Amino acid sequence: MNEKIKQLQNNAPIGVFDSGIGGLSVLHELELLLPAEDFIYFGDSANIPYGEKSVEELIKFSRNILDYFATQNVKMVVMACNTSSSVTLDVVKNEYDFEIVGLLEPISQYLACLDVQNIGIMGTSATIKSNAYKDKICEYSNKNVFQLACPGLVELVENDLVNTKKANDLVKSYVEPLLQHDIQRLILGCTHYPFLRDVILSFIKEDILLNPAVYLSKAVYDFLKGNNLLAENKKGSAKFFCSGDMEDFVSVGSKFYGKSFVAECLELNKR
Ligand code: DGL
Repeated sequence: MNEKIKQLQNNAPIGVFDSGIGGLSVLHELELLLPAEDFIYFGDSANIPYGEKSVEELIKFSRNILDYFATQNVKMVVMACNTSSSVTLDVVKNEYDFEIVGLLEPISQYLACLDVQNIGIMGTSATIKSNAYKDKICEYSNKNVFQLACPGLVELVENDLVNTKKANDLVKSYVEPLLQHDIQRLILGCTHYPFLRDVILSFIKEDILLNPAVYLSKAVYDFLKGNNLLAENKKGSAKFFCSGDMEDFVSVGSKFYGKSFVAECLELNKR
């Protein structure tokens, strides 16, 4: 066990962050597998959409959030955001005394064990531009990867416009071109997209869809268990913070998360 892990406490919280409410789809998966853990969720809603930001801005946002989690003595941080995972994880992961994990690695490892060749990915502009998914998948296996930037979908979720014709038409315009490539799996490469699942399923079969959060949660469980860091003998909890409008964050977030919660608005120290 390395020094970084030895000093961490089992019952310390796990930090989870995203640009907004999308990461709640990840928190949901984490809570299913890790019911005894305490989570601190931060939605950086003042800076949404991350998908349209520069690499420099995204690194700054990650560092500001990770600095905050450091003050909360977290035992690990989950980047519940594909954009941050794609663009910033490799840059910041060794700057802190706790483990930081992202969404790309676990699903790429899973795909390597799967007998499929053509993989589609829907993601934000920044995620797709980074090529990080394609690179990570190809690091583990030889697949044909078809990526598509899907601007506008995050805003549909954040503004609670999922059940609208606009959402249906936009999703269709993204999914149909990917289907032209005979994809055998479609990765929802943005944590807001699981909230569009029903709309996406009007155009593709359910067994094609992959949510990276499922594989990430397993990896988090394995990491905590492997390092004797699982929380024990208690019921877990979640605290919620955001940097933008608190009422929108709570009302739309509760709806998609499936549970009501309260949140506090938090102004982060900026580097
Ligand atoms: N939910 C995030 C992701 O997984 C970011 C979306 C955004 O703010 O553009 O990429």
